[in-house]
Amino acid sequence: MPSATENGPYDYTRSGNPTRDVLESLLAKLDKADRAFCFTSGMAALAAVAHLVGTGEEIVAGDDMYGGSDRLLSQVIPKTGVVVKRINTSDLDEVASTIGPWTKLLWLESPTNPRQQISDIRVRHVN
Ligand SMILES: Cc1ncc(COP(=O)(O)O)c(C=O)c1O
Repeated sequence: MPSATENGPYDYTRSGNPTRDVLESLLAKLDKADRAFCFTSGMAALAAVAHLVGTGEEIVAGDDMYGGSDRLLSQVIPKTGVVVKRINTSDLDEVASTIGPWTKLLWLESPTNPRQQISDIRVRHVN
C-alpha cells in the first residue's frame, strides 16, 4: 500500500499546495511570525483557532463582534466545555481583571463591529 508521503508533500492539493505554502511563508515574514496559516474563509480560521482551547479552559472575548463569531462563541464553543467570558475589551482594566490562569485565548476586534469601539492593542514582535 502506498504511503501518504511517498510522492512528496504536493501529491494531493488539500494536504499540500505549493501556492499556499508560498503565501503562508510570505504572510509570516510580513508579520515577523514563525508561521502563518491560510484558510478558505474567516469563519474556518476562527473555528480552528477556537477549537485549540480545551475543555475547562477559557476564552476571554469582546462583547461586540461580527455575528458569525458571536454565534460561534455563544452557541457552539460552550458545548465543548470551554468557558467563554464576554467583556468590553476597550476597557483595559476589565481585560486585565478578567484574564485568569485558565485563559488561553483573548479574542477581540478593533474597531469592533458594529459599534466601532477601539481596543488599545499593541503588537510586540519577539524576534
Ligand atoms: C470581523 C469578521 N470576522 C469574521 C468574518 C467571517 O469571514 P468569512 O465570511 O470569510 O467566513 C467576517 C466577515 O465579514 C468579519 O467581518
